[in-house]
Amino acid sequence: MGSELKYLAVLAITVVALLHSTAAQETHVVGDKFGWLVPPGGHYAYEVWAAEQKFSVGDILEFNFTTGDQDVAKVTKEAFDSCNSTSPIELKTTGPANFTLDTIGEYYFIGTKDRHCELGQKIAINVTAHSGSPTPSPSPKPSPTPRGPVTYVVGDQFGWIVPLGGELAYSAWAYGKTFYVGDTLVFNFINGTQDVAVVTKAAFDNCTTNNTVAVFTNSPVNIILNSTGEHYFTSTYSRHCELGQKLEINVTAKSTGTATSPSSPTTPSSLAPSAHSPAASGPYNSAPSMINGSGYFVSFLLVALAFFH
Ligand SMILES: *[C@@H]1O[C@H](CO)[C@@H](O)[C@H](O)[C@H]1NC(C)=O
Ligand SMILES: *[C@@H]1O[C@H](CO)[C@@H](O)[C@H](O)[C@H]1NC(C)=O
Ligand SMILES: *[C@@H]1O[C@H](CO)[C@@H](O)[C@H](O)[C@H]1NC(C)=O
Ligand SMILES: *[C@@H]1O[C@H](CO)[C@@H](O)[C@H](O)[C@H]1NC(C)=O
Ligand SMILES: *[C@@H]1O[C@H](CO)[C@@H](O)[C@H](O)[C@H]1NC(C)=O
Ligand SMILES: *[C@@H]1O[C@H](CO)[C@@H](O)[C@H](O)[C@H]1NC(C)=O
Ligand SMILES: *[C@@H]1O[C@H](CO)[C@@H](O)[C@H](O)[C@H]1NC(C)=O
Ligand SMILES: *[C@@H]1O[C@H](CO)[C@@H](O)[C@H](O)[C@H]1NC(C)=O
Ligand SMILES: *[C@@H]1O[C@H](CO)[C@@H](O)[C@H](O)[C@H]1NC(C)=O
Ligand SMILES: *[C@@H]1O[C@H](CO)[C@@H](O)[C@H](O)[C@H]1NC(C)=O
Repeated sequence: MGSELKYLAVLAITVVALLHSTAAQETHVVGDKFGWLVPPGGHYAYEVWAAEQKFSVGDILEFNFTTGDQDVAKVTKEAFDSCNSTSPIELKTTGPANFTLDTIGEYYFIGTKDRHCELGQKIAINVTAHSGSPTPSPSPKPSPTPRGPVTYVVGDQFGWIVPLGGELAYSAWAYGKTFYVGDTLVFNFINGTQDVAVVTKAAFDNCTTNNTVAVFTNSPVNIILNSTGEHYFTSTYSRHCELGQKLEINVTAKSTGTATSPSSPTTPSSLAPSAHSPAASGPYNSAPSMINGSGYFVSFLLVALAFFH
């Protein structure tokens, strides 16, 4: 009885939401293909992901995770900030778990297991009224607009390090980014603690870093991508490669339009103007960086949390 009422209430809310928004209800899979996990890059990953979404009343937030490994709790802002999972508003332990965004405002979610929240499994989103008119919100996907060369800072503010999350961290970073001939990769690190080794696929796969194409030791290392195809980067430092300091990217020929003048390396117009960390020096073209084995090297990458579309 009680549950029936609850069901009806949910149904009613849903119907109202649907009527309210003639536009289609959208389902946002948190972290896209990486799902809901402890992101190797820290909470930053889900921030990036959320910044690229437009949440409207009536939309569904879907947390995709393996039941038992993760859970998701809707919490207050205070609990979110302090990672307090003592008395969540709502806790869901079976994945995937859906939350319908039925009101305008801010929503906060955290993972309550172990130290998951402290380690970055948390996300805050802001739901706005459904914009009736199709103001194509920063349509995140590819319009093949020609663009000038772009400079990518590898690992963004984390730079080039042995990532906490293992090798998926840099594949997550690269995920969703498009690399064209003429673009530049910048590797930032502390001199004497890292280096950048350009290697072959075999050396990359095997971490046989005594066999390199080139090695650069002075930060920052700027590498202009001057040929198409796959490019492999790692480190000659002992065990750095095995621990995940490795980046594989696929460079494609410049799309159609020859970019006019190699003007400022702004973010491609096809990408959402990201509102992420102002301190970040690199263009966050897209990807949320996230990681899970399944998304590894899906051609494209962290932070966090990011794939998709
Ligand atoms: C959820 O994750 C599983 C396993 O990775 C995947 O097969 C499934 O497609 C994902 N669901 C969604 C909606 O992304
Ligand atoms: C966590 O939240 C509970 C309930 O809101 C509160 O009683 C408790 O003091 C909080 N713990 C911390 C460490 O803030
Ligand atoms: C979550 O929402 C998606 C999209 O509407 C739906 O396909 C899926 O079945 C829902 N999952 C659950 C557990 O309700
Ligand atoms: C959410 O959006 C409202 C209205 O646009 C804004 O006032 C508020 O600061 C936003 N909150 C966050 C956390 O961004
Ligand atoms: C290294 O990679 C090559 C080519 O991929 C492979 O044939 C070889 O067995 C690998 N060596 C080791 C030690 O894994
Ligand atoms: C690199 O080291 C491996 C063993 O660690 C060895 O088999 C291989 O011959 C070495 N390659 C070069 C070019 O020295
Ligand atoms: C690394 O060393 C090079 C050459 O000595 C120097 O130009 C550069 O500023 C150093 N970078 C950092 C981050 O210390
Ligand atoms: C491509 O770049 C590498 C190093 O960045 C350089 O050694 C090589 O000569 C360049 N090739 C061409 C064709 O410019
Ligand atoms: C990654 O996804 C696979 C399924 O594709 C799942 O079995 C695994 O537990 C996930 N890893 C993490 C860390 O969530
Ligand atoms: C790299 O891109 C080319 C052309 O788009 C494609 O044929 C190739 O399969 C890609 N390689 C990888 C590893 O994704």
